[in-house]
Amino acid sequence: MSGVRRIGILTGGGDAPGLNAVIRAVVKACAYIHKVSVVGITGGYAGLVELKARELTLDDAGGLLVRGGTILGTSNRANPYRYPYVRPDGVEEMIDASSSVKRNVDKLGLDCLIVIGGDGTLACGERLQRELGIPVVGVPKTIDNDLGATNYTFGFATALEVATNALDRLHTTAESHHRVMLLEVMGREAGWIALHAGIAGGADVILIREIPFKIEPILAKFRARERRGRPFSLVVVAEGAAPAGGEQVFSGQDTVTGWKRLGGVSAQVAREIEEKGGYEVRSTILGHIQRGGSPVPVDRILATRFGVEAARLAATGQFGFMVALRDDEIVAVPLVDAIGKLKLVDPGCQMVVTARAVGTVFGDEDPEAVEAAEG
Ligand code: F6P
Repeated sequence: MSGVRRIGILTGGGDAPGLNAVIRAVVKACAYIHKVSVVGITGGYAGLVELKARELTLDDAGGLLVRGGTILGTSNRANPYRYPYVRPDGVEEMIDASSSVKRNVDKLGLDCLIVIGGDGTLACGERLQRELGIPVVGVPKTIDNDLGATNYTFGFATALEVATNALDRLHTTAESHHRVMLLEVMGREAGWIALHAGIAGGADVILIREIPFKIEPILAKFRARERRGRPFSLVVVAEGAAPAGGEQVFSGQDTVTGWKRLGGVSAQVAREIEEKGGYEVRSTILGHIQRGGSPVPVDRILATRFGVEAARLAATGQFGFMVALRDDEIVAVPLVDAIGKLKLVDPGCQMVVTARAVGTVFGDEDPEAVEAAEG
């Protein structure tokens, strides 16, 4: 017997389609199999600092499989170790509020905490367990699919579907107007969404952070397509992409965390294509549409599998692990080994080789070779 009677659950960081499906799976598995109660913490770690939580029952789990966002709310500012606090004189400062977390975990009578989030949320959970002895089980989440310990995170497949649909739509209007269409997708430092959507949507050019690009091979691709009677082109740009020797483009900075938001590189690339190539160009930033709405079936399934396994680990007293997908099996990996391992696209990987084999340009090619290859 593990002695676990009550499990807390929270969602931290940016939301991702499938968060509610994980919550549902945890609540159901805890009710049907483990007979332990579940407490939902509101607003990520903020709910533990400020004691905002409520019991989650089977009734709360109804309808959650298909619902986007997170019923618990989330925050990418609520790090208990750097918690924004407004002093009586109105000045905001960052304080260490981790002792409040410990106090409130005890007050709520939680035997374990399931934290669902990206690297920041998981790293924080690992620290709470190591420093304060709060038992933690992690569930990886991010549309960016950039966590090294798991083959896939839920949310990624939905973002990919949205991005691919967008490319399909841009394709028809690009063809009608003989334009170059750019689609900027999310992913932070990782080019996974761009790479996968680019292949699925038949992009002529894919630009990702992992492969610094030059404008000449891109223009060569457009010229070669024109010669073949295809006077339009589709370009998918990862928000983190940057030109060789150049800088990433940021759209803003979070006032609390200081974290810089990527965004806007597509407009810069569009200008250059217009000026140097003389093409008519339009660019679209897909933004948070990639994160909202109902999860696709693949994400619902992965979220359910993660939730069921997280509930099992927590209820049976196996703490300090993160659930992960490896070779189509759900496994438990030590949290400490799972955090801080960013998974980026290897420029030599099979996916990139595959894309190149169907004529996709990444911007690092010899322009003459690009033109010659098109025939
Ligand atoms: O990590 C998920 C993600 O959607 C990134 O792809 C993107 O750069 C970032 O979060 C956007 O963050 P925010 O929701 O704070 O604008």
